[in-house]
Amino acid sequence: MTVTTGLKGARVLITAASRGIGFGAASAFLQEGARVVVNSSHADRLKQALETLRPFGEVSGVVADLSRQGDLDLLVRETRERLGGLDTLVYVTGSPRPGTFLEQDYSDWSAAANLLVVSPAYLARRAAELMIETSPAARQVFLASVAIREPLPNLATSSVCRIAVAGLVRTLARELGPRGVRVNGILPGYIRTERIGEVARDQARRHGTLVAEEISSLERQIPLGRLGTPDELARTILFLGSDLSAYVTGAMVPVDGGLLRSVG
Ligand SMILES: NC(=O)c1ccc[n+]([C@@H]2O[C@H](COP(=O)([O-])OP(=O)(O)OC[C@H]3O[C@@H](n4cnc5c(N)ncnc54)[C@H](OP(=O)(O)O)[C@@H]3O)[C@@H](O)[C@H]2O)c1
Repeated sequence: MTVTTGLKGARVLITAASRGIGFGAASAFLQEGARVVVNSSHADRLKQALETLRPFGEVSGVVADLSRQGDLDLLVRETRERLGGLDTLVYVTGSPRPGTFLEQDYSDWSAAANLLVVSPAYLARRAAELMIETSPAARQVFLASVAIREPLPNLATSSVCRIAVAGLVRTLARELGPRGVRVNGILPGYIRTERIGEVARDQARRHGTLVAEEISSLERQIPLGRLGTPDELARTILFLGSDLSAYVTGAMVPVDGGLLRSVG
């Protein structure tokens, strides 16, 4: 058996991709020959990302804030116009403010629920409509976090709200499977991006330690002994976002170096 991703010419939308996990995914899909639309909320950062990505293949960008309905509509409209349809959606998003439960106010919950629950659900629907119309075998991949299995310290809103992504994935897998759309999720552990720097800085401030000490402390919790890289995570995103996973739907796959301890 020859193993290929079969992504040459595939039409792919990747959100929150000016850096970090989304950027790593965009780079991987482009190297497989996919045609990619990337997104972020910040025009300059998106422009910079596009300059780095262009040598790898056909890519364009749409500035859109994932927490706004009108921007989500624009994103799907632009994707249809530029790619003519959609085979794979990779949904990554921004991060809520770190903090303990007692530090979170109404506005923090409201912003987190909008970004981590409403936004993926709404984009999933708009993307599904386009996929049903234009792709015989489409896939949606949602990035969540290991926090949905084991809540993480000082990330209260994330640990609570991201659980909805698991519900979204299972709900959509059942409803959209018969329409030719597979839907899966990924639970990243600690991946070396700017977000981990932010989390480590927050922990260092609380504990009166150095950021490097906090990173080492995270690494000691991971059986593989180190943070993951966006490239390593991108391999699982490619798997779920291509026909390599043709018989997988409704799964939530940890990519965490063994961090999760719970069984099942
Ligand atoms: N890194 C980890 O270890 C880890 C683990 C589990 C879960 N996660 C989650 O995975 C997601 C990506 O993490 P990351 O590590 O790649 O973070 P990152 O390096 O901070 O990158 C975040 C990306 O999100 C974009 N973004 C932020 N707010 C946005 C918005 N409202 N609309 C559109 N784009 C937006 C940013 O682009 P602009 O600034 O250009 O808009 C940037 O491209 C986050 O939700 C994070 O909490 C990360």
